[in-house]
Amino acid sequence: MRPELGVCYYPEHWPEAGWAEDAARMAAMGLTWVRIGEFAWSRMEPVPGQLRLDWLDRAIEVLGAAGLKVVLGTPTATPPRWMIDRFPNMLAVNAEGKPRKFGSRRHYCFSHAGYQDECVRITEILARRYASNAHVAAWQIDNEYGCHDTVLSYSDAAQQGFRDWLAARYGDIAALNRAWGNVFWSMEYGSFDQIDLPNLTVTDPNPSHVLAFRRYSSDQVVRFNRAQAEVLKAHTDAPLIHNYMGRVLDFDHFEVGDDLDIASWDSYPIGFLSERLDLEEGHKHTFLQQGDPDMQAMHHDLYRAVGRGRWWVMEQQPGPVNWAPYNPAPLSGMVRLWSLEAVAHGAEVVSYFRWRQAPFGQEQYHAGLLQPNGRDAVGADEAAQVAGDLAKLGDLTPAQARVAMLFDYPSDWAWAAQPQGSGFSYFNLILSAYKALRRAGLSCDFLPSRQRDFSGYDLILAPGLAVLPPDLSDALSASGAQVVLGPRSGAISDDYHVPDAGRPGVAGLDVHVDLVESLPPDHTRAVSGGGQVMHWQEQLSGAAEVLLQTEAGAPVQMGSDRLSYLGAFPDEVLWDRILGAAAERANLSFMRLPDGLRIRDMGAHRFAVNYNAHAVEWNGARLEPCGVAVWKDGAQVL
Ligand code: GAL
Repeated sequence: MRPELGVCYYPEHWPEAGWAEDAARMAAMGLTWVRIGEFAWSRMEPVPGQLRLDWLDRAIEVLGAAGLKVVLGTPTATPPRWMIDRFPNMLAVNAEGKPRKFGSRRHYCFSHAGYQDECVRITEILARRYASNAHVAAWQIDNEYGCHDTVLSYSDAAQQGFRDWLAARYGDIAALNRAWGNVFWSMEYGSFDQIDLPNLTVTDPNPSHVLAFRRYSSDQVVRFNRAQAEVLKAHTDAPLIHNYMGRVLDFDHFEVGDDLDIASWDSYPIGFLSERLDLEEGHKHTFLQQGDPDMQAMHHDLYRAVGRGRWWVMEQQPGPVNWAPYNPAPLSGMVRLWSLEAVAHGAEVVSYFRWRQAPFGQEQYHAGLLQPNGRDAVGADEAAQVAGDLAKLGDLTPAQARVAMLFDYPSDWAWAAQPQGSGFSYFNLILSAYKALRRAGLSCDFLPSRQRDFSGYDLILAPGLAVLPPDLSDALSASGAQVVLGPRSGAISDDYHVPDAGRPGVAGLDVHVDLVESLPPDHTRAVSGGGQVMHWQEQLSGAAEVLLQTEAGAPVQMGSDRLSYLGAFPDEVLWDRILGAAAERANLSFMRLPDGLRIRDMGAHRFAVNYNAHAVEWNGARLEPCGVAVWKDGAQVL
């Protein structure tokens, strides 16, 4: 595999006379892909039914003539104003019951059938016109599902859709009442038509009701995406892609991914650090201009799984963004580092957002590869450098990691429906485990919770898996790998009850969760031998061996030398101990990497990236601040 570079371009923002020069400069910079079209509906169809695609024909022609491959986006994330006149109730409604307004983007409700038909219509028009265009080499459907908090909508369309979905799932209302435990607080229903959406209740709604609504909402994203995917597949064999976002967990990406060929995501490391990560202020300060050293890698690995091995970075931050609370510039070298790190995790393409900084609209302070006046911005130099690096690296061969971690979107919804303590989340638990793997220099594959074949893995982590189906725990036990479950694994049944078999209820593992405690952030409990329990502790009993316990004698991890259950949220030191012990039992060689230095193995290549603002000596190489080193079969090649 030879990774390539690309860029996001908006021909409709610039005079046509400049397109050819832009295209030539892209090619000269070493870019081979260009994504266009995803927000251009008002220019494609200014008046309902009156199509204006001649400019798009010419833009594709100009870009293609420069040797660029085009990713054509369907414009459905930005319904034009006339669409709202046609369907006033297509707007998503927030949890306070207020419709969201026209004037930015993503202002649609996934449940609205009329809008979905319009999306199918415009997709069909584009597919018919461009499927056979040799320059259109891939398609992007919509843009960043779920971004700006847009999956959950409390509209009339969602209410009706939810009732129908429940009727199909439960068959009769008595079954739903039983499944949800509606005898509690006299919440029993006489018919599906009486069921509202779980917002604006006096106190907490029933978690079974909430989880059902979360599943329903996720299904609407899948359905919405599938409608466009089916249209495109009828016309083209070019790969279909969606660009997912960082830390958006409101829909099941694995299920959306099943209808697509490639997963991609939009990587904004500095924006994410300040806006989306619950990490200590000191850490955020250290990495203010680099981004968290694990956030990008975690999403690369996750989306590689969503794409069943095929994934891209569709939008790579090229300089300061505009949307986070604070928007510092990347340190010199970081754009290159982020790009090569993506390649190290198997990205087929890294595409920068965007070509030229916009002089109008909401993102005027968002850097591009070029300044608004067309001069090169810092990102342009680094992108060109990456093109040179990739030429030096040549072919890369993806390889399965020996460590896997299960990732399960519904677990996040389940945790959020009954958090039991603030300050921690499913995402934070996964990130903390992932960080520990990275500190130990271990490369990791994420796997969906529906996975049952674990061949080739020596260590499998399954933290926080709310529902733990018996066939999954059986497959994990039979895998022969070291398996660490918990905390909060097997905590609920599918309908959000305490499971009949108790928690975690794993056959062959004599461990029982007798009660759970959540702890305030400043209250931790020391573990014998080092490390602390924070946020969450389960009281464990059973005949299994106690592998770790608090200084007060409460079991923290129990199990055998193959399968164990962790009943707490560990701090860094404790995670390092837990993983170190499991890796040793699995015969995996691991290390203690210097702070801020991360590695990834890919076939014959080992990549090291230095997220620090200072140089680091490692493995016989000097990594400059924000530097990268690559070895092939042990010899340094970059
Ligand atoms: C992404 C989005 C782009 C642009 C970018 C700015 O979320 O897909 O259209 O808005 O953020 O960082």
